[in-house]
Amino acid sequence: MTLLELKNKFLADLANLYPKEEILSFFNLLIDFKLNLSKVDMALNPYQILTKNNLSYFLNALTGLQNQKPIQYIIGETEFYGLPFYVNQHVLIPRPETEELVAWIIPLPNPPQKGGNLNILDIGTGSGCIAISLAKNLPNASVFALDISNKALEIAKQNAILNEVLIEFIEHDILKPNIIQSEEKNLKFDIIVSNPPYVRQLEKQEIKDNVLKHEPHLALFVENENPLLFYTKIADFAKDNLTKNGKLYVEINQYLGQETISLLKEKGFTNIELKKDMFGNYRMIKADFTDNHIS
Ligand SMILES: C[S@@+](CC[C@H](N)C(=O)[O-])C[C@H]1O[C@@H](n2cnc3c(N)ncnc32)[C@H](O)[C@@H]1O
Repeated sequence: MTLLELKNKFLADLANLYPKEEILSFFNLLIDFKLNLSKVDMALNPYQILTKNNLSYFLNALTGLQNQKPIQYIIGETEFYGLPFYVNQHVLIPRPETEELVAWIIPLPNPPQKGGNLNILDIGTGSGCIAISLAKNLPNASVFALDISNKALEIAKQNAILNEVLIEFIEHDILKPNIIQSEEKNLKFDIIVSNPPYVRQLEKQEIKDNVLKHEPHLALFVENENPLLFYTKIADFAKDNLTKNGKLYVEINQYLGQETISLLKEKGFTNIELKKDMFGNYRMIKADFTDNHIS
């Protein structure tokens, strides 16, 4: 089969599922990734014949797309904050909204030289996208990253190597009592950041099929009855483990901004700021915890 025939097959077989522009963009991404060919190379050499192995790769990718598998999982890579990240079905595909959370943290007020002496903890690190992009941009900070999923941590570790940063990874359930304190006495964090699971089961109908069928539900969903469970635990953890004047940054459910603010106020956080994402949805909160001794 030639490249042109393959392209026409993609257009025909995926026509019912995706707009033409999206199919062409999948096709171009795949030929770039697998054959290192640009759109222009393809236009100059449309009759190039595919080897058996390459053809089988593209036909597998086509089946994946027919099953609504996200292109990032098919290729096994994506980009976040200008950096490359491996992804597979055990980690959430990093979202642009989360890049905005990272961008909110990086220009720290009065930054000690590029994050010098700062301890940062990312809770629910998944692919490691938040922790790694912070470590890359604040090279003097010490960055820790925690997740309950051992399989997610495997990918996050590979991503730390890929991006040449040192991160201390911790396998832990944030809903269980605090282990960090017992293991690393005196360790306090200047910044705790988290993008925890926050989609309620009742919001499932708003979620696209490609997400529902392929992304890890462990990373996405919480029970309708207790949608702020993670924020409650993270706030309690942060109260015990932030330095004086430490900051908490969280990505939030756009429909639960006020509820999340109330929760943080009740827990004693101050200077609480709610921020919209580029789509105009209330998506992230920053809060200070000035007194570590109130519980
Ligand atoms: C919304 S994803 C965020 C992933 C990544 N930080 C990002 O922004 O793309 C939430 C992450 O929390 C992890 N997680 C779920 N339950 C957890 C728990 N009880 N303790 C620690 N991590 C948990 C999931 O494995 C998942 O990686």
